[in-house]
Amino acid sequence: MNLITDWPLSLAAWERSKASLSGGVSTGLRASMPPHPLSFERGQGSQLFDIDGNRYTDYVLGWGPVFLGHSHPEVVQAVAEQLPRGQTFGSGHALEYEVAERIVEFVPGAERVLWSNTGTEADQSAFRLARAFTGRQRILKFAGHYHGWQDNMLVSYRGAGATQHPEPGAGTRGQSSAAMSDVRVARFNDLESVRVLLENKAEDIAAVVLEPLLANSGVLVPEPGFLEGLRDLCTRTGTVLIFDEVITGFRLAMGGAAEYFRVTPDLTVMAKSIAAGFSLAAIAGRADIIDQVNAGVVHAGTYNGNPIVLSAAKATLDYLARERPHATLAGRAQRLASGMSDALAAAGIRGHAHAVGPIAQLALGIDRLSDFEQYLQADWAAYDELIVALLRRGQFVLPGGRWYLSTAHTEADIDQTIAAFTDALHDLALSPGSVESTTSSAAAER
Ligand SMILES: Cc1ncc(COP(=O)(O)O)c(C=O)c1O
Repeated sequence: MNLITDWPLSLAAWERSKASLSGGVSTGLRASMPPHPLSFERGQGSQLFDIDGNRYTDYVLGWGPVFLGHSHPEVVQAVAEQLPRGQTFGSGHALEYEVAERIVEFVPGAERVLWSNTGTEADQSAFRLARAFTGRQRILKFAGHYHGWQDNMLVSYRGAGATQHPEPGAGTRGQSSAAMSDVRVARFNDLESVRVLLENKAEDIAAVVLEPLLANSGVLVPEPGFLEGLRDLCTRTGTVLIFDEVITGFRLAMGGAAEYFRVTPDLTVMAKSIAAGFSLAAIAGRADIIDQVNAGVVHAGTYNGNPIVLSAAKATLDYLARERPHATLAGRAQRLASGMSDALAAAGIRGHAHAVGPIAQLALGIDRLSDFEQYLQADWAAYDELIVALLRRGQFVLPGGRWYLSTAHTEADIDQTIAAFTDALHDLALSPGSVESTTSSAAAER
């Protein structure tokens, strides 16, 4: 295996970029990727190519959206056909409803759709609709769940206040305390922590929002009865139940997590994976809640529903509806997780891997991963070392342990990645002060 030793051109590009672009890349998270952000020139299918001439199998997928792989030919063709016909019209066009019809067809509970551009803003639209519908003010979220970077939602997620509840724990400097006072926090898989807040009228809860599969903090499944219990509590208290399916929409199944776990929310927010890397988000759900946009609830956005992103979405959803890749992809993700578990056990390195649908999760330094607290306890410093060891072997993975598979990832990619992972563990075992070595890994138990 030819190892990449360093990335001189990427490093130089990043240094140059930092002089004009703060952080050198376009988000703080990208800036924090070890050993430093790489600069890419091209993506094709499951492969990425950097400016130093290296090739990687990509499990980052643009942090999620590139679900059909890079530059999928059907998406490229659809966008290329649309581009010369205009970029945005400031009024109606056929793609708006043609793609909305596909969402209504597949997403449980979707009677009506609104277009937006990012998950962050679509979540905020859903909250506004819920407030208008209920006449109540507050949103209830769960510790460890991510719903974008706005002041009200970037709470009880990471850092000192990560597990704080029911008062939200701050997520960033410069945060509005007024926005935070409109939020309450409960614990995932703890119905009682929700019930006490929903049944207390003084708490004034308009909506409960969650990642039905907690993808952002460990790819954690809801315990049996949890989503059903939430559904029941929300129905009984007249609270709007919002599934944030920005990651899971059309990825876990055509109908997302709602189909996968068989629970229907009042509103669903989708973004990543509905438009193959283009910036599109949707709010879908009950007509009586969403149609309030025709009765005084403002839903705005210059770029909403522009034909370029919707042409990409139409091609993406048509491809998924035709090919139905979900079961095959889930099998591949499962094989990747088992391969990584076996390699950890063989190397005597403590760790855990599992997969749900086409998303795998890996963590070092812990034996089990079934709740947010365990996720926080994993050895993320060692994981950063692993990221670099994997990069050297042509594997591009996210911080935080989540691995995304696209429809372009082949069995051969998975085999090659497991071999690279097995080899990368040698670096880790050699590195002093990394993960504690033990033979009793979760991998060995499963
Ligand atoms: C579950 C979830 N909700 C909302 C968001 C915010 O989406 P965006 O980054 O498009 O604003 C994300 C982004 O990662 C997400 O994972």
